[in-house]
Amino acid sequence: MTATSPAPATAGRVEIDARVFNPYSKDFIRNPDPVWQTLMRDYPVAWHKDLQMWIVSSHELCDRLLKDNRFTPNFRAWEFAPPPKAEADKNDFDRAFEKGFFAVSPAEHLRLRKLTMPAFSRPVMGKIDEKIRDLVTECFDAIGEAAEFDVYSALAVKIPARSIARMVGVPIDMEDFFHEFAVDVIKSTRINLPAKEREASMQATLPGFKYFRDRIAERRARPHPGDDFLGSLVGAVDASNEGDARLDDYEILSVIFALITAGSDTATDLHTYLLYALLSNPDQFALLKRKPELMENAIVECLRWGSFGKMPFFRFASEDIEFAGQTIRKGQAIGVNVQAAWHDPAKWDDPTRLDIARRLDGNIVFGAGAHFCIGTYLVRVQGRLMLTEFMRRFPDADLANGTGDLDYEWTHHNARRINRLKVRTNLKARRRAA
Ligand code: HEM
Repeated sequence: MTATSPAPATAGRVEIDARVFNPYSKDFIRNPDPVWQTLMRDYPVAWHKDLQMWIVSSHELCDRLLKDNRFTPNFRAWEFAPPPKAEADKNDFDRAFEKGFFAVSPAEHLRLRKLTMPAFSRPVMGKIDEKIRDLVTECFDAIGEAAEFDVYSALAVKIPARSIARMVGVPIDMEDFFHEFAVDVIKSTRINLPAKEREASMQATLPGFKYFRDRIAERRARPHPGDDFLGSLVGAVDASNEGDARLDDYEILSVIFALITAGSDTATDLHTYLLYALLSNPDQFALLKRKPELMENAIVECLRWGSFGKMPFFRFASEDIEFAGQTIRKGQAIGVNVQAAWHDPAKWDDPTRLDIARRLDGNIVFGAGAHFCIGTYLVRVQGRLMLTEFMRRFPDADLANGTGDLDYEWTHHNARRINRLKVRTNLKARRRAA
């Protein structure tokens, strides 16, 4: 290199590798906190040589990065993004995907959020509560008076996708169809699936997209599209945007797509981690039974404490960016390690302690900035209904064998997915004592 050559992109770069952070290692999945603390203390911004991406870990930096629009979630901005398909080769999946929250420009995203706002408003969401309550009751009725049950199979896999089905107005006799559709949508977006399997799942989603296109057409044909979730999307008008005032079919499909991809896997973890957090901290479970008004705070605190994510959230640099002393080149991928940030001692006192009365101001459990979670209402409703019913039916419950025989789906692509958590209901002991 001569004195006049440009400095290599790696000069002064802080680098780590899988020895520091391996999201797929069993030790990490069991107990991620030591790794997160190392990342936040020694490598708050570092290039991960094995993952080929930047990892940003402290609370302050994750918050700042999520609010900076130069970092886009659109994978088309990635230096290694595959070329887009030719227009003629695109199917409904591709068209819905490219109109989605994570694929459009910041201006289009803002328009999308504005137009979808009425569908997520309290009056529309409030009507969904009753439907989800029925679903939760059905799940607990199926558990009945069992001495022991598995939270994952009895609740966590049953409630989320069906809640979304009820939210988007799928009739009950079509819920199995919707469930299959949701499973295939999620599989189609999993980067760690072999390409052939991913393609097969994507093809299997097409009848689901057709089903919703027909429902949208039917709503458009009515004099008034209806005031439920789908009707609100069909009827939404942005009066300030004359040229593009309404959502087109693919934009509405993209919302359903986003609800499935962002809202069913996460809510599966919501149910297991809520019960895991409370039952492994009996003092906090007792406090919630005494003070149910802490419910909303408790749900967010349990999510913060359990920190179920494994892979950070993706962003891509849309230009060269100086960030916290490091140079992030245009096109590079960044992992926003919010899970670590949820345990940042600079933000949280004693971060590994569950404290359902903790003040959670400024938390980024549901993200920050333009892509802040759109599903928080549904999270609170599902969480509240499930916990209220659980405490009502099984007030003396605890973890079976002290640990719940807890197990993980070790190869899950982005979550520390608990796929076994056994709970003892202790109903007999309660009856004997009464
Ligand atoms: C435990 C439950 C959940 C947690 C912890 C959670 C967390 C988050 C976070 C951190 C983001 C920001 C991601 C980013 O910036 O890259 C996000 C976005 C999003 N979430 Fe959630 N979420 C949950 C459940 C849900 C549910 C149930 C739904 C819908 C039914 C949902 C829908 C969405 C959507 C559509 C976005 C993207 C919004 C946008 O790009 O404008 N989430 N969520």
